Amino acid sequence: MPAIVLVGAQWGDEGKGKATDLLGSRVDHVVKFNGGNNAGHTVVIDQNGTPEKYALHLLPSGILTPGCTPVIGNGVVIDLGVLFEEIDGLEARGVDTSKLVVSADAHLIPPYNRVLDKVTERFLGKRRIGTTGRGIGPTYADKMTRVGIRVQDLYDESILRQKVEGALDVKNQMLLKIYNRRAIEPAEVVQEFTRYAERLRPMVADTSLLLSRALDAGKTVLFEGGQATLLDVDHGTYPFVTSSNAISAGACTGSGVPPTRIDRVIAVLKAYTTRVGEGPFPTELFDDNGEFLRKTGHEYGTTTGRPRRCGWIDTVVGRYATRINGVTDFVLTKLDVMTGLDTVPICVAYDVDGERCDEMPMTQTGFHHAKPIYEELPGWWEDISHCRAFEELPANCRAYVERVEELIGSRISVIGVGPGRDEVVVRHDLLD
Ligand code: GDP
Ligand code: IMO
Ligand code: MG
Repeated sequence: MPAIVLVGAQWGDEGKGKATDLLGSRVDHVVKFNGGNNAGHTVVIDQNGTPEKYALHLLPSGILTPGCTPVIGNGVVIDLGVLFEEIDGLEARGVDTSKLVVSADAHLIPPYNRVLDKVTERFLGKRRIGTTGRGIGPTYADKMTRVGIRVQDLYDESILRQKVEGALDVKNQMLLKIYNRRAIEPAEVVQEFTRYAERLRPMVADTSLLLSRALDAGKTVLFEGGQATLLDVDHGTYPFVTSSNAISAGACTGSGVPPTRIDRVIAVLKAYTTRVGEGPFPTELFDDNGEFLRKTGHEYGTTTGRPRRCGWIDTVVGRYATRINGVTDFVLTKLDVMTGLDTVPICVAYDVDGERCDEMPMTQTGFHHAKPIYEELPGWWEDISHCRAFEELPANCRAYVERVEELIGSRISVIGVGPGRDEVVVRHDLLD
């Protein structure tokens, strides 16, 4: 099973970091192919009996697995300051980061894009996206308008200077004239970039070639998606999305590995739904149940600390994730959080302006009008965190999993019953 893609099925924070970590030592390379430090993956590892918590933003979660080569692909946008802060933080805790490889084609987040991300959001007011403010959107926009700065540009100072000056010709007009901010000196930006250039140099590689050779040699490569299906810029709830392709297809463009080499697609689905930032969310709860999920599931952002919006599981979204990503296996996470509810509602379809809709509505307006149609299943009260086999789960809990599986149209192979590495129920081996 050499090439596996792992993506989020909903609006992010499904537990992708833990799922990647779970595959651990059986994977040779873990590739981050999209996004940047807008992502936040929490991984909890048992170290000599005490749970150690790691929060990763820019590095692939595979960095926590000894022997695994972490790769930052061309589709990622890199904030160099954050990258080295994260590397230093992990090294200080004894994690070996020396195998990290970074694509020469990945784009860099310049300081002016961090400023622009924040000021445009403020300017949008009520129409804001609720971004993480890390400069992600403006940096992908620069890539598309061909004024982006890439990792390889760090090693040709005259090109770097020219590119930064060219970009700032326009950006400074925006900062000064539209947003009433101070202009940024090109030298300031070049200095910030070059400060990290020599430290980065030994990590820079043609990662597409490296991965192609690894696959030729029969190695196992895991492509770890940031964000999620409904945050994908093409297939998500646009404009309330991130600016990259977070679906399985993004693994190919974001790494230079072709679709014909992908063997399996794993999607991570939370047993309920959360969303950070603005945008439509049909099953969102504003009552005690929403508060219960937020408190019990500790639903506060890893990156920004914002409280996550919470709601019931939406199998219209799950079905859509199956179709768009070509999902072969689901990892259903945080089922333990659902313990102690009288009923566990499952959204099976939408009512859109009086009409039943079994699939994602075609238009943004349709999705804004979507009202969930629920099937109510009885809940369970037993603590499931110690269960390690499907048969050990309470009957009502099994019924919930089986009904969700039927509705999303792809098998649920792994179930999360707690944040720890071993707190899982494996029904089918993900690498078989
Ligand atoms: P990611 O961005 O998809 O990697 O997800 P986050 O790390 O942002 O959020 C998922 C949170 O849920 C993390 O704090 C995980 O430690 C935690 N988590 C993952 N799986 C489970 C699970 O099965 N049960 C519980 N209770 N927590 C989980
Ligand atoms: P992980 O990988 C949840 C959301 C932001 C905002 C929108 C655009 O941890 O699942 P951006 O800064 O990307 O331009 O913000 O996308 N968002 C996420 N939500 N999890 C994430 O990553 C996210 N990354 C971005 O909240 O609504
Ligand atoms: Mg997250």
